[in-house]
Amino acid sequence: MTTDRIRIFDTTLRDGEQSPGCSMSPQQKLVMARALTELGVDIIETGFAASSQSDREALALIAAELKTPVLATLSRCLPGDIETSVKALETAARPRLHVFLSTSPLHREHKLRMSKEQILESVHTHVRLARSYIDDIEFSAEDATRTELDFLTEVAQVAIAAGATTINLPDTVGFTTPEEIRNMFAHVIANAAGSDKVIFSAHCHNDLGLAVANSLAAIEGGARQVEGSINGIGERAGNCAIEEIVMALKVRNAFYGHDTGIDTRRIVATSQLLQRLVGMPVQRNKAIVGANAFAHESGIHQHGMLRNRNTYEIMRPEDVGWESSQMVLGRHSGRAAVEARLRALGYWLEEEELALVFEQFKALCEQQRVVTDIDLQTLMHGAPVQDGYRLASMTISDVGQRANALVELSDPEGNRVCETASGDGPVDALFAALSAATGVALSLDSYHVHSVGIGADARGEANLSVRHEGEAYEGTGTSRDVIEASALAWLDVANRLLRQRQGSRQAETSNA
Ligand code: KIV
Ligand code: ZN
Repeated sequence: MTTDRIRIFDTTLRDGEQSPGCSMSPQQKLVMARALTELGVDIIETGFAASSQSDREALALIAAELKTPVLATLSRCLPGDIETSVKALETAARPRLHVFLSTSPLHREHKLRMSKEQILESVHTHVRLARSYIDDIEFSAEDATRTELDFLTEVAQVAIAAGATTINLPDTVGFTTPEEIRNMFAHVIANAAGSDKVIFSAHCHNDLGLAVANSLAAIEGGARQVEGSINGIGERAGNCAIEEIVMALKVRNAFYGHDTGIDTRRIVATSQLLQRLVGMPVQRNKAIVGANAFAHESGIHQHGMLRNRNTYEIMRPEDVGWESSQMVLGRHSGRAAVEARLRALGYWLEEEELALVFEQFKALCEQQRVVTDIDLQTLMHGAPVQDGYRLASMTISDVGQRANALVELSDPEGNRVCETASGDGPVDALFAALSAATGVALSLDSYHVHSVGIGADARGEANLSVRHEGEAYEGTGTSRDVIEASALAWLDVANRLLRQRQGSRQAETSNA
C-alpha cells in the first residue's frame, strides 16, 4: 500500500512506560492518552494487556473515552495472550492487536530456542488467530535489524499471508545505522509477496543516539508508519522521539515530501505533561522541547536574531508550542540584545544612557547567571540590585515521622534572621522555615533534584516551580548538598519577588 502520509504510532504508554522510573497508573495513562489524541497521533499503544491488570484497566478507561485514535495493545505469539488482548480491546472503537515474535539468530537460539521453521509456523498460527478476531493486526519481527535479510523477508511474507495489515521491523537494540535500515526496508518491501497491501513500520531504539536518523532512513526505504514516544522515553536509551521526527519531517518537508497528522503546536504542552506525570524532566538542550531549544544568549546570535530570526532558528518556537524565542540575558549577551529587551519593556535610551546601563548590566552578570526583566527594571529605576537574603546556615533533624529545620539567613540589610519550622520531611520543614524567615509564601508545584557534573565536581541542582499570588515562578539552586541546593532554589525565587516589590515601589515613587 503506498501513501505519502506517515502514520505516527505512539508507544509512550507501552514501550515508554516500560522504562525505569516511568511507570504510570491507569488514570495517568488516560490523562496522557487525551493529550496524545489532541496532538493528533494516529495510533496509541496503551500497554501490554496480557502482562498486567493495570494495563487492562488503562485500556478500558482510554477506550471508554477516546474514539478517534486507533488503540493498540501488545501481545506475545501465545493463544492466551491474544485472547486476553482481544477481550481487553472489546470496547475500543478502532482496535489494533500488535503481535510480536523475535526473528534474529541470537534471539532464536538463546531466548526462544526455536528453529527458523518453528518461528515461521508460530507467526502464521498466531497472526491468523489474531486476525480471526480483529481486522487491524500489526506484526513485529523483534530484533529485525539483526535478522538475516532473506529470513526476515520470509517472516514478513508469512505474516502478510496470515492477515497482518501492518508489518513492523524494529531496531530493538538500537544497533542499526541509517544506510543499513534504509536497505533493509527497501529489500523486504521489494521481495515479500503482498507487501503492497500492508503498511511497513519502523520502531527504532536510541542506544547509539540514532533512533530519529534511523527512522527517517526507514521512511526513505519505504516505511509509512513510525513508532516513537514523547520525549523519546522507552527501554534503555529510549525510542525515537516523536517531537523530533515530526519536526524533522515538517522542517525538511521539501526533502522528504511526507506529512503527518500531528498538530505541532501541541508538542511542548504534551512533552511537559509527560515530564510532570512521570517526574522525568528533559535536559535543557533537548531538541524541540528542552528549555534552551529556542534560547539565545551569545551576543553574535542575539544580534543576528534581532535582524532576522532565520539566521539562527530553523523553525518558529510558536510552531511547536513555545510562546516565543527566548533571549536569555547573561554574561555573553551584547548591547543590541539589552537595548532590544529594554525597548520591549518600554525604555528607549539615548546612546550614553544605554552605555551606562550596559556597564551596570555587565556588573550584574558577574553576580548572577541570568538577568531578568525585573533586574533590568530595577537598574532603570536607579536602585542598586539588592543581594537579597543569603543562607548563612541550616540544620535539619528528624523527629519520628516529622522533620525540624533551623535556618539562619542574612537579610538584604545584612541583619541575621533565624527561624525554625517543622514539616512532613526535611524539604517541607526547610521551606516552611525559609518562608517564616523571609515572610514570603510560596506554594510548590513541582520540585526536582538532579546531579550536574561528574565525580569530585558533581553538584546537586534543585529546580522548583512555585506559585505566589497566582503567578508561576521557577527557581534554581546548586550545591554539593542537595538540601542546601533546595534552600538556594527557594531563595532564588523569594529574592526575585522581593526585588520585584522593590522595583514596583520605586516605579510608583518616581511616577508620583
Ligand atoms: O523494541 C521492540 O522490538 C519492541 C517490539 C515489541 C515492538 O518494542
Ligand atoms: Zn521497543
